[in-house]
Parts: sequence; C-alpha cells; structure tokens
Amino acid sequence: MLWILLVAGIAYGQDCGAKPPQRPWAPAITNGRDSDPNAWPWQLSLRYNADGVEPFGHTCGASLLSPNLALTAAHCVDPEIGGPERDIPANFRLIAGAHAMELTGSEQVLSVSEIIRHSRYVADSTIGFPNDIALLRLAAPANLDDPNVAVVCIPENSTHLFDGRPNCWMTGWGLVDFWDGRLPTVLQEGEQELLTNEECQAEFPFPNLRETHQCVGRGADGTPGACQGDSGGPLTCLEDNGKWYQVGVTSFGILGCEGAPSMYTRVAAYREWIIDRINAP
Ligand SMILES: *[C@@H]1O[C@H](CO)[C@@H](O)[C@H](O)[C@H]1NC(C)=O
Repeated sequence: MLWILLVAGIAYGQDCGAKPPQRPWAPAITNGRDSDPNAWPWQLSLRYNADGVEPFGHTCGASLLSPNLALTAAHCVDPEIGGPERDIPANFRLIAGAHAMELTGSEQVLSVSEIIRHSRYVADSTIGFPNDIALLRLAAPANLDDPNVAVVCIPENSTHLFDGRPNCWMTGWGLVDFWDGRLPTVLQEGEQELLTNEECQAEFPFPNLRETHQCVGRGADGTPGACQGDSGGPLTCLEDNGKWYQVGVTSFGILGCEGAPSMYTRVAAYREWIIDRINAP
C-alpha cells in the first residue's frame, strides 16, 4: 500500500535558482535536520481551510516558479481525496518566506486565483498516482524584492536529469516522526541520492513506475525520507551553473516514511506543460 504525503508577466528563468550556500549534509523530512532560516527561498507552505476562513492550516508543500505561479502535487488540491472544498481556490493560502511552521508576521501570505491540476492525474495508489502535479495561480504576484523569497529553476528540457548526482535536497514541514505524528517547528532539509528508474525498479517493487516518477533515496534507516505534510514540496538540485533546479514534486511513499524510496513527480517530464502555463496571461 502506497501513501500520499499530505496532511489533512515577468519572463521566466531570468533569476531563478539563487540561494545562500548550502551547509554540507552530515547526519518534515523524517531524519532531516533544521534548515537555516530562509535557506530555501522558493519553498512555500500550502495552507487550507475548508470554509475559506482563518486559520488556514499547513497541508502540503509547494514551490514558487514565477511571481504568479506555484507548483504543488495534484493530490494536495484533489476534491476526490480531500473533499469538494479542495476545488475552491479561496480555501487555500500560500505562505512565502516562512521558516517556522508558526508564522511570525514577516511572511508573505498569498491568495490563489486558479487551481490547475494535470488533466491526466489519477488519484490511485495502485497505478502510482500518475501525473501528480498541479499549478496554483496567485491572485496577486509574490514580492521578489523580499530577500527571503525567490523563484526556483525548472529543468531545461525533458532529459535534464540529476540521477546519481550530488547536491540534491528534499525540504518540507512534513512529519519528522511518522509514528509519533511529530511535526517540525522549522523547515527541514535532507540530502538524498536520486535513483534511476532502472535501479529503483530493480530494488523496489513499485507498481507502474513511469518515466514521470523520480525515486529518491533507498529508505535506509536513519536517512532522510519524505513524510506526511511534505507532499507537493520540492526536491531541488544544484546544477554546475550554480543555480538550483526543481527536479521533483513530493508525491507518495510507504507507510512510516522509511524502508523504500520517497516518490516524486519528475518535473523535467512536465517542462512544456509548465512553461505553457507560466506564459499564459
Ligand atoms: C538539455 O539541457 C541540458 C542542461 O542545460 C543540456 O546539457 C542538454 O544538452 C540539453 N539537451 C537537449 C537535447 O537539448
């Protein structure tokens, strides 16, 4: 049984993927560590209230692709999974520039004007939640003059992959311990290796592994894994050009968040789909 990981005008690509230098990995993200404040300036917290009123609670991660557009997982905004209220943009907020789960007032609170789920997304674990990707159009643009807020790059083409390469990090406010149900106080980060689909399929019997899936880590004890609340959040890798690229969107894992790879939607496979919508008015 596979589990999804949610809890209840400017030209693109000019200044994407810039962030402060990353501390090396030593050893929610289970088995991650506290990130430095605002180390991941494209990381967003997707917050939800079925009645569209305060308080909006963290439900998923997301990322900022342009001042007007955020990327998340389709299952985070799926009325089939979350109830019909998940179809209503006014029931969501995106928080930019956050570090602590509890907001301090310095964050940007962004309203959503449109939910764009991939038309071939299917909410079915037995076929690996295909096309688990969605875009959220913002009602008003995020302020990129805020040093804590930036846009991330997306892969340059469908074969711009990072399998087997270093400097790939998962980030999120998901559970740090599944069995205790413990949420982190600040954004967690963990470095992980990206498996090719061949390596992943050989070691783990995921059903219907597709080119549009990205396996992340092997789930070894004590190593970082995505968990409930990380869904929709980014996996970003440092490219040789010094920019950070979003390689994956957190999609699903196994019960307990350890023992198998974390499964991400492979962003490179959706580049054209995303660019078409960034450029739409
Ligand atoms: C895809 O993008 C990568 C990174 O920019 C580049 O190295 C590669 O040549 C590109 N491939 C194609 C087919 O354009």
